[in-house]
Amino acid sequence: MGMIFDETYRPFFETVFQRPLYDPAYGACRVPLAAVASRTGKRAEAYRQASRGRIDAFESFTEPDSMPQLLDSGVDFVCVATPDDRHFAAARAALSAGMHLLVEKPSVLSLAELDELTRLAAEKNVLAKVVYHKLLDPDHKKLRTLVADDILSHINNGYCTLLEPKAISGSQFAEWITGRNPGTYVAVHYIKLIDFTFGGKLKSVQCTGQRGLVGPADGATWDSTQLRMIYEYDDGREAAFDIHTSWVTPDNFPGYVEQEVQFRFDNGVWNGHSRKRGVECTVEGRTPIEMKNSINNHYNGSFLEPWGERSQRGYGIEVLERFAREVAEVEFGGSADDRAARLAQARTLTYNDLSADRQVVATVQAMEAILARHASGTPNCVVNVNGARGGLELYAPGSAEGEVLYEPEV
Ligand SMILES: NC(=O)c1ccc[n+]([C@@H]2O[C@H](COP(=O)([O-])OP(=O)(O)OC[C@H]3O[C@@H](n4cnc5c(N)ncnc54)[C@H](O)[C@@H]3O)[C@@H](O)[C@H]2O)c1
Repeated sequence: MGMIFDETYRPFFETVFQRPLYDPAYGACRVPLAAVASRTGKRAEAYRQASRGRIDAFESFTEPDSMPQLLDSGVDFVCVATPDDRHFAAARAALSAGMHLLVEKPSVLSLAELDELTRLAAEKNVLAKVVYHKLLDPDHKKLRTLVADDILSHINNGYCTLLEPKAISGSQFAEWITGRNPGTYVAVHYIKLIDFTFGGKLKSVQCTGQRGLVGPADGATWDSTQLRMIYEYDDGREAAFDIHTSWVTPDNFPGYVEQEVQFRFDNGVWNGHSRKRGVECTVEGRTPIEMKNSINNHYNGSFLEPWGERSQRGYGIEVLERFAREVAEVEFGGSADDRAARLAQARTLTYNDLSADRQVVATVQAMEAILARHASGTPNCVVNVNGARGGLELYAPGSAEGEVLYEPEV
């Protein structure tokens, strides 16, 4: 019931309450918000009061044991939007109970956890999917289309940055930020974009970062991180990608969440910049804190539609609707005899299936391990992927012997 619930799940459930999903394959499909689980239930109660008439009545379960109660309440699928180091337990519980799963990014923090979730999804015959809404951003869809059509050919290298305001680390996430880093939280958007758009094999991961603002300068809580990934492609050529993230940018920064990418190809350059997407608006006394100067109207905008209706829509919400449609297709899109075939088909969608998240989770696991080593006194480690001794092997500077973080092939 945190920030991402309010930004995307809430408008999705409110919209689908008014207008159920429809497809010729499964007819009209209602998707009521049936129950929520959270730590204290405070925001759930506030939302219950504020949302009367806009959604169905829902149950609210709180810690301890909020998940077992939610799973007993008769839901059909479960969306996990807890802090990133609390995804795994809830996701495992949902799949073990035979529910379809949608988990926020990053799906989980280690390949062992990912293996366990994909194993459970196969055993229980349900979907296990992850939300990477940036893949549905029209700009990123265009990038991928140009790559798929070989108009932009052979990625060489690139950089991405995503800078969050101090309000995120200082207040919104204060309860769970200790020991965490902004790379796992937001670099992961670009890790997935790069992995999904350009394909290739992950070869190695490096990472460093800065401390001292969110937590002590020698502690394990990071202000900003710089990640480097090296990929290799079928022809043996390599590409390097640098991803810089922060959650200590000043709150009055006009971009609010600043996002920029540049990808260089054999025959071209792609530049994307969140603040140059088109709109800059100033309102006295409102921007840049209450309202943002540069508004991303593609992600999740509130609109007065030309036909008079109020709406909230964008790719951040569309990605949730897609998942609900995939579940509807599996459960209601034809005869029960063909369910297994429909399930198999839904699992081939590599943009969101957990089985296709391996190289992303490998990078996150490597980054977390490198930052942990850094915090305990050994900076600048590197993780090699699919070497002689294992899938993920961490090397400290000057050491010939690596530590195996994950043994099977990534
Ligand atoms: N798709 C995106 O672009 C996007 C954007 C923001 C956040 N996220 C992801 O969504 C997740 C949540 O982020 P947020 O911004 O909403 O965080 P938040 O801190 O605003 O909310 C976290 C919520 O989790 C609940 N919670 C914490 N521990 C719990 C537990 N043990 N059991 C049940 N509930 C628990 C809290 O009560 C709170 O409601 C993170 O994984 C984050 O990476 C995704």
